[in-house]
Amino acid sequence: MKVVIRNSALEASVWAAHYIAAKINEKAAKTSEPFVIGLCTGSTPIETYAELAKLVKAGKVSFKNVISFNMDEYVGLPESHPESYHSFMHKYLFDNIDEPKENIHILNGNAKDLDAECAAYEQAIKAAGGFDLFLGGIGEDGHIAFNEPYSSLNSRTRVVDLTTDTRIVNSRFFGGDMNKVPSQALSVGVATVTDAKEVILLVMGPKKARALKDCVEGPCSHKCTASALQLHENAWIACDEAAVGELMVNTYRYFKDLY
Ligand code: GLP
Repeated sequence: MKVVIRNSALEASVWAAHYIAAKINEKAAKTSEPFVIGLCTGSTPIETYAELAKLVKAGKVSFKNVISFNMDEYVGLPESHPESYHSFMHKYLFDNIDEPKENIHILNGNAKDLDAECAAYEQAIKAAGGFDLFLGGIGEDGHIAFNEPYSSLNSRTRVVDLTTDTRIVNSRFFGGDMNKVPSQALSVGVATVTDAKEVILLVMGPKKARALKDCVEGPCSHKCTASALQLHENAWIACDEAAVGELMVNTYRYFKDLY
């Protein structure tokens, strides 16, 4: 695991965007195969997406040969709802870059057969060649995608029940009313993420300090599903100074020295 610590969330986000752009360009220079990327939602990736949009506008990178799969979506929320992850992704990324519509994949939380939707998603990821890179965030309880504590570290895309804690945290997007936050979601599994050749987790702000500590220093455990990245050979964490407050001084110094 490599932890990149920057002074501000903006600097860490810009680092991640430039890293992703460089990876897309690196693959494009070698092959005509598409670059397959996993994408996340939440407030954290907004600045990374804004920087990627800037890079596309400046002609520094193109998403024309990128295929994306989002990590999760609420169950039962209309796609047109402003807080659906469909709406979020279009607003903050897809409307501002040149990725072809047919390359965009987001789980359908309104599918008649949710299990079939999840199985088809795993198949589509495989058919696209698997993830070159997965960009994720982390929940305050250490969840990755919507893999709540005690999800299997071997889990795959499936229907998940959201914990009360997560619904309370996410209620800030639903007028502060946790009852308006759907109680279920479709989510890629932990293993869907760790199958990616490379993973970048964005972790910003003091509210994520405990989750970051558990992810980096804690045991690799289903209690903090993001800690599964400890077993990944190419996992990055991009974080700001505010998020590292719970790390041991020596852990902090180690990563500051290297990255
Ligand atoms: C939700 C999403 C996660 C995201 C997390 C953190 O639970 N399912 O994918 O990482 O929120 O969100 P935020 O970036 O807003 O803190």
